[in-house]
Amino acid sequence: MPDDRQWYINAIFYEVYVRAFYDSNGDGDGDLAGLRLKLDYLKELGVDCLWLLPFYHSPLKDDGYDISDYYQILAEYGTIEDLQALIAAAHQRGIRVITDLVMNHTSDQHPWFQAARLDRQSSYRDFYVWSDTDQKYRDARIIFLDTEASNWTWDELAGQYFWHRFFASQPDLNFDNPRVQRAILDVVKFWLDLGVDGFRADAVPYLFEREGTSCENLPETHAFLKEVRRYVDENYPGRVLLCEANQWPEDVLPYFGQGDEFHLAFHFPLMPRLFMALRQQDAGQVRWILDRTPPLPDGCQWCTFLRNHDELTLEMVTEAERQWMWEQYAPEARMRLNQGIRRRLASLLDHDQALIELAFSLLFSLPGAPVIYYGDEIGMGDNIWLDDRNGVRTPMQWDGSPNVGFSTAQAPDWYAPPVSAAGYSPEQVNVAAQRAHPDSLWHRVRRMIVVRKELPVLGWGSLSWIETSSPAVAAYWRGIEGQRLLVVNNFSRAEQEFTLPFPETPVRLEDLLGGRQVSLTGGNELNITLGPCQYLWLKVDLPR
Ligand code: NOJ
Ligand code: CA
Repeated sequence: MPDDRQWYINAIFYEVYVRAFYDSNGDGDGDLAGLRLKLDYLKELGVDCLWLLPFYHSPLKDDGYDISDYYQILAEYGTIEDLQALIAAAHQRGIRVITDLVMNHTSDQHPWFQAARLDRQSSYRDFYVWSDTDQKYRDARIIFLDTEASNWTWDELAGQYFWHRFFASQPDLNFDNPRVQRAILDVVKFWLDLGVDGFRADAVPYLFEREGTSCENLPETHAFLKEVRRYVDENYPGRVLLCEANQWPEDVLPYFGQGDEFHLAFHFPLMPRLFMALRQQDAGQVRWILDRTPPLPDGCQWCTFLRNHDELTLEMVTEAERQWMWEQYAPEARMRLNQGIRRRLASLLDHDQALIELAFSLLFSLPGAPVIYYGDEIGMGDNIWLDDRNGVRTPMQWDGSPNVGFSTAQAPDWYAPPVSAAGYSPEQVNVAAQRAHPDSLWHRVRRMIVVRKELPVLGWGSLSWIETSSPAVAAYWRGIEGQRLLVVNNFSRAEQEFTLPFPETPVRLEDLLGGRQVSLTGGNELNITLGPCQYLWLKVDLPR
């Protein structure tokens, strides 16, 4: 790979659930070798970096976020050699690969926990957080509200309570123990030596616990994360760390440090507001959250996203907003999970291509490096009848054949059935059909990515809002020296006509996506009419 150390600032990320992507050996589970066979597809889409969900040994109580061996790959997914072959083949195509790093907790099946629970004298006892009462750290919230009544669970074998921020089958590691810190750095070293380009670091706000605090975002946590960064920079320059902290922008900011902690962090609070704005037909919510998003230190970037493998989280909205989002987007009880909504992009947006395209226009044109969740580029649906978050983790729909182009096994032997909901079945929604159809969602998404790659301003540029007469319109400049892009998005289901003021009379205007003729009506104003949910990216050349 070329040594462009800031490659991530303007990269297109693609989140893959390996089990769902492509089954190379006909056992009904997608695998690493299968993913390798689909790299050309990802290249064609314009992906720069894959983020692989956990593929480590695990009893799968949390789909691999419960690791029982950090150094082994789950048998269904393949071998270390398969991963190396995948990385090599991706690198040949200019695609990087990052993987999940789950450091906050292990599985209760991990040998560390097994040793710890059996013997108070074990040198592993102190790898976890134990207590004789369940009354400590009462200010820490419970995250998996639907399943967990407490962050403490009594362990018969240990004769004590152990601490866990997620499922009770995922005991938290004790980061006050230097041996735990060392063990995690060893894990980091192992996978970076193998060639991965970095990590999406899971659940980092919760590493340390302190009485009288929420046990989130503690200074001790930042200190350790800075140590991880230092270690990576010193030994593996150019590799990246992406932070998963579902927090307000001002609380995420410290995760970038002074440019010496994470390179990237998800922008969680933006995501639900995109959906609010789309439903309210009013851009205000998007503008509000971006206006309260602080500037980042040099060399840092947000990762923006529409959906991911979890429920659409509503933790970063008010109680009233949460209720409203549930009413609007999750009318059936099975669509809700914890404080969120377990549905995919296309079904949230009523399978309406114009609306889905608009969501992608926002994702690709607002600040941040976009992350696409696998299948959303073709508008795949979900299956709310599967438990937990499995309904948004179904097999990738490659074609309309009976085996969906996913596996040679019979569908009943697959890890999960393909989506069958009306309008979303593989015959109706699949990669092959959309590639064959120039107006498909897939082609539109791909086109936006192609155009985005020609415009460094979208990765690096500033954002400034433009006032228009319509609250349904989000209009903004993206700018860096020498390049100016004007983006307008119509959130309304009705046509909107409005006027945009220009600082100077442009010498040239180019509609980058639609190829429509745009001209000034005179003076320094542009009259624009946008159809329902239409968007426009205009390259603007101002006089020198
Ligand atoms: C966040 C992950 O995205 C989610 O899938 C997982 O359940 C929790 N962290 C716990 O690891
Ligand atoms: Ca397989």
